[in-house]
Amino acid sequence: MTHISYERSARYTDLDSIYAQCSGPGGLRLSDFMAQKMGLQPGTRLLDVGCNRGVQSCFLAREYGAQVIAIDPWDDRVDGDPMVEHARRNASDWGVSHSVLAQKIGVPDTHFASASFDFALSTTALEMVRGLDGEEGYLRCLQEILRVLKPGGVFGLGEPMHLDVPLPEDLEPYVSQAEFPWKECFRGIRSTVADVREAGFEILDAAYAPDAWSWWQEYARHDPFCKNAPDEDPRTLAVDNGRWTSFGYVIARRPE
Ligand SMILES: C[S@@+](CC[C@H](N)C(=O)[O-])C[C@H]1O[C@@H](n2cnc3c(N)ncnc32)[C@H](O)[C@@H]1O
Repeated sequence: MTHISYERSARYTDLDSIYAQCSGPGGLRLSDFMAQKMGLQPGTRLLDVGCNRGVQSCFLAREYGAQVIAIDPWDDRVDGDPMVEHARRNASDWGVSHSVLAQKIGVPDTHFASASFDFALSTTALEMVRGLDGEEGYLRCLQEILRVLKPGGVFGLGEPMHLDVPLPEDLEPYVSQAEFPWKECFRGIRSTVADVREAGFEILDAAYAPDAWSWWQEYARHDPFCKNAPDEDPRTLAVDNGRWTSFGYVIARRPE
């Protein structure tokens, strides 16, 4: 079992600033966790799928020495700038412009040549695709990630998931949000592992993250949208109180 050290992410203590530059539970602690679970090595080429404003890509470049291609197809809902423009500016602020390249593109249509990457990572992004394009759309994304990984390349999927329990009745209205309803987007670990396997990967490790609930609480306290709308995600999490919402990871390899 990999022992996870949060030494690197612990250096970044301004969580309000970090959460303003990413979007989802875990922030840099999540990236630290995923990098160690994947065995990310310096000098290797990493595809970050759904990089948002790119701060986690910058962290992985600076702290793990990865060469990161950071992709995101959307524009920022605050200022309308492409996410990748934020990523480029963040890379410059972090002093990692030479090792983070951002491109406005998404899965499944990345147009990268096959077998281009040593590692691929996607955190808190593909469940949104599932919400929009259903299970088939989700599978197409996984298959594209498989295609662009080198044989033997490693994929880390980190995703908001629900525990393998029935949805509590009183929580149902809170996870039926108008946009990206959690009850449609989130799955349990077993079904996610089945999807990753069906896409053609060999599973190396998969579980609910031990710190899942503390990542969600950190998100509720520091994410700017949560701070502005306490009746939305923070309320959902308060009602949930750890009964259903979680966060899981799958580490998988493209077979040789
Ligand atoms: C909730 S954010 C997560 C950002 C970050 N990875 C994290 O863990 O905090 C999800 C990001 O996925 C991006 N996204 C949406 N559809 C995508 C797709 N088809 N391919 C890649 N990224 C996508 C969105 O633009 C958004 O920036």
